[in-house]
Amino acid sequence: MSIIEKEFTRLIDICKSVEGKKINNDPYRLKYHLMPPIGWLNDPNGLCQFKGDYYIFYQYSPFDVNGGLKLWGLYVSKDLVNWEDRGAVIFPDTIFDIHGVYSGSAFVEDDKVYFFYTGNVKHLGNHDYIYSGRGHNTMMLTSEDGVGFSEKKVILENIDYPDNMTCHVRDPKILKKDATYYMILGARDKSDKGCILLYKSNDLNDWIYVNTISTIEKFGYMWECPDLIQLKDIETQEVKYMLLVSPQGIKEDGYKYNNIYQSGYFLGDMDFENGEFIFDEFIELDRGFDFYAPQSFVDEKGRTILIGWMGLPDIEEDYYINPTYKNGWMHALTMPRQLILVNGKLHQLPIKEIEKLRRNKLTIHLESVKEYDKLKGSIYELEIKFNNEIDNFELSLKSDCIINYSKEAKVLRLNLGKSGYGRCKRAVKIGNLEALRIFVDTSSIEVFVNYGEEVFTSRMYCYDFDDKISMKGNLDDVKINLYELGEYKYV
Ligand code: FRU
Repeated sequence: MSIIEKEFTRLIDICKSVEGKKINNDPYRLKYHLMPPIGWLNDPNGLCQFKGDYYIFYQYSPFDVNGGLKLWGLYVSKDLVNWEDRGAVIFPDTIFDIHGVYSGSAFVEDDKVYFFYTGNVKHLGNHDYIYSGRGHNTMMLTSEDGVGFSEKKVILENIDYPDNMTCHVRDPKILKKDATYYMILGARDKSDKGCILLYKSNDLNDWIYVNTISTIEKFGYMWECPDLIQLKDIETQEVKYMLLVSPQGIKEDGYKYNNIYQSGYFLGDMDFENGEFIFDEFIELDRGFDFYAPQSFVDEKGRTILIGWMGLPDIEEDYYINPTYKNGWMHALTMPRQLILVNGKLHQLPIKEIEKLRRNKLTIHLESVKEYDKLKGSIYELEIKFNNEIDNFELSLKSDCIINYSKEAKVLRLNLGKSGYGRCKRAVKIGNLEALRIFVDTSSIEVFVNYGEEVFTSRMYCYDFDDKISMKGNLDDVKINLYELGEYKYV
């Protein structure tokens, strides 16, 4: 057996050794979020709806809770609440992806799904793996039934990328405009400027380089996980493009860019003819502690759906952690969100299907400082509507999570205590506070502000189950609905 064959056998044996294993014995396992069955999860990948079924692939490292070699895991669902766990499905088993089946996307056409991803290869030698030593191959494979996959094909290699690129070129996403297919790839150029490479094709197989797209002023050293979304404004009916990227190397600026890496979008316009994007301001998609590498897809109902990784890479342990690593698993995906454009502003709405998990509905009436304490460790959705302009408002829930709004500063804050495991404060400037929809799972919180104008996503690890909700403020004209939620079912 050659060294390479031995390496493949070793990898496949490692993969097999965890096949079918699942972590169950941790109270922090989430009830309505997708998690790795065992080990590590990062980016959502290959998102699509194909022949009625939703396919949610993810970066998966089942044998290493801290994320080692990456493969693609898969969950499949017909309704986004009942799931089939297919475990690990795309493996690093060729010399073009031997050190990782990195992130990528799906493109559905003519009863076939085309998957594009980055095959990661680390060459032996004295390399930094940024400027030398790394192969980042754009790979393609197809499936006609979502179960079997074709042979892998190499579409682009380092040599096909422009000369001024480092070895960091990855995360392909495809879209079609008229009869032409376009591929965008996230990249870092040799001057350490984050950018996007645009390619085009007539047949999804042969790709021609069109242009490198970036802001005039450098905006970070690397752009990961690009995505180009087209949305029709539901008010103005105007069609707008949004370029999503996860830039690295952006400095904190007040309430902005507080995480180690960012995820957001540039509103703007895509000029396909010249391969240019006309950039507007960069807006963060999420204001919480745990959100990165989101990906979108359009489902068969025509909805643009976004899922993010409820986590971030490279966080120093003395900053914040996820205690679940002790129990053999780490990270999760966010709840799917529908994207809509309203008067030029992107809104993210919790996916409608999540309402199927609603159990008991309670309408709570509270005045000034009140508590509701009949929860007992449950998972729930809290829906709050402020009918009149609210001044100062404070909501406490679970162990030590406080959400407050100051009318004077027009700032909404999320504060966590011990349950944040190092996560403390995040905030965003908003206008008036009109509505909150808050989703609490066993170890996460997602806060949708003003009908999805802003979202905060965070892990939180409650340490007692003395579970109350309390609020302060003038609550005379505030409507509060509380829904206990059921769990995802797995088959
Ligand atoms: C983003 C990312 C991608 C890469 C993948 C590897 O989190 O770094 O750029 O393809 O993760 O797991």
